[in-house]
Amino acid sequence: MLKGIAGRTALITGAGGGIGSATARRLHAEGANIVAVDRDADSIEALVAELGERALAVPADVTSADDTARFFQRAVDTFETVDMFFANAGVESKVITLARYQENRIRHYHKILDEWIARD
Ligand SMILES: NC(=O)c1ccc[n+]([C@@H]2O[C@H](COP(=O)([O-])OP(=O)(O)OC[C@H]3O[C@@H](n4cnc5c(N)ncnc54)[C@H](O)[C@@H]3O)[C@@H](O)[C@H]2O)c1
Repeated sequence: MLKGIAGRTALITGAGGGIGSATARRLHAEGANIVAVDRDADSIEALVAELGERALAVPADVTSADDTARFFQRAVDTFETVDMFFANAGVESKVITLARYQENRIRHYHKILDEWIARD
């Protein structure tokens, strides 16, 4: 058991995805209240249905200031406080091999050099 988690409220953005949902499950198992935020409503509604009590789904886009104010307000209205905030929502770029990464980097350097040379 993790100390000091039970009864606290965790607000997790990107809670419908891999890392966010795993974090939500773990903190919920430790007794935390969960506020699951994601722009993909289905994923957080399924997660909250699975968790049962002490879990709230708030569909929202974290790039919107209005949505952000709204999901914090919903959290406070429901659980009174937000004790933990995991700003996890985001997008992962395409996974590429190290060799491919190296090629891209070299191409990028050449592009910069070409631009500098073209200036003279
Ligand atoms: N998985 C990895 O290996 C890895 C490595 C480094 C960083 N990360 C970062 O960790 C975070 C979570 O990764 P993951 O693998 O769980 O990704 P994932 O794609 O499984 O989950 C990301 C979740 O964020 C949500 N989301 C995206 N943009 C949003 C927005 N504007 N508003 C609300 N929700 C939004 C998506 O709907 C999705 O459910 C991401 O920010 C990612 O960039 C992941």
